[in-house]
Amino acid sequence: MTGSADSAIPRSADDHLAEPPSAEPRPVVLLTRRLPDAVEARASRDYTAILNPTDEALSGLTIAARAAETGADAVLCCAGDRLDAAAIAALPERVRLLATFSVGTDHIDLAAAKARGLTVTNTPDVLTDATADIALLLILGAARRASEGERLIRADAWTGWTPTQLMGTHIGGKRLGIIGMGRIGQAVARRARAFGMTIHYSNRKRLPPELEEGAVYHSDPDALLTVSDVLSLHFPATAETRHWLNADRIGRLPPGAILINTARGTVVDDRAVVAALRGGRLAAVGLDVFENEPNLFADYRDLPNSFLLPHLGSATVETRNAMGFKSLDNIDAALSGREPPDRVV
Ligand code: DGY
Repeated sequence: MTGSADSAIPRSADDHLAEPPSAEPRPVVLLTRRLPDAVEARASRDYTAILNPTDEALSGLTIAARAAETGADAVLCCAGDRLDAAAIAALPERVRLLATFSVGTDHIDLAAAKARGLTVTNTPDVLTDATADIALLLILGAARRASEGERLIRADAWTGWTPTQLMGTHIGGKRLGIIGMGRIGQAVARRARAFGMTIHYSNRKRLPPELEEGAVYHSDPDALLTVSDVLSLHFPATAETRHWLNADRIGRLPPGAILINTARGTVVDDRAVVAALRGGRLAAVGLDVFENEPNLFADYRDLPNSFLLPHLGSATVETRNAMGFKSLDNIDAALSGREPPDRVV
């Protein structure tokens, strides 16, 4: 086959092992967590890869200490690794790059990384569809009371079909408010339209009509709240957005609204959300992310109207492989003096 014909064939995980770049001497790359086999295989093929076979979660200072012990040139870190200013200051001079296996960068003190002259890269695009799929799962699971139904069956407490059992909310014809209309927000909108939802959104910049696809723009996110039967959050966690969805903003939602969060747990005030679920102000929540994971606000577990997932947004084999390969593409570029494709800092 010719090269051009080959290039039309989708790449499989093994293709990433096919063409080793010539790199001598081999730089050292520290992987902070266990990564999919194909990703670790490529990392070990191309670098002296320091793996974490037990997948133990490491503190930022432990990551810095391990980088020093192993002579790491780059750190392939993950969401959940707290690389704060102290950890970044403790990194050895030799480390040039933090390549995070995530689109979110809230676990890294970017200002400290910049001041220290580190390059930081992330993994945009490849997890858009998987995360949008999980948002739809949460919308449907919360609206259709999936957790309650599942618990009934698992507790062997289901006595059979009845006309009024576990009646939920029909999502067709309802208004979906999306805050943060980036790649993931747009992908959620496309899916929700197929279920008959009307899309409203708020974003720093209004989208052009071809991307808006009829969605109604609200320049003021607080105004968007008033028309959101279902509210889905898609903006980054920063100091400014911490606990953005508070009691006051929940009070602006239509009574009986449903809240969906696949962004980061810190953007909602858990106490206010739980109070609204208890009082019926919110009909249900669908949450994939939590403040202080994995030690989530315990009251969520006791509420029948919470549909909870353990941060599964990007958790498909295909997506996690793609995230790993993207991280390695960034490392390949940065360590060979090229511009990494997904530079954040
Ligand atoms: C991300 O990429 O930021 C996700 O939350 C991890 O899957």
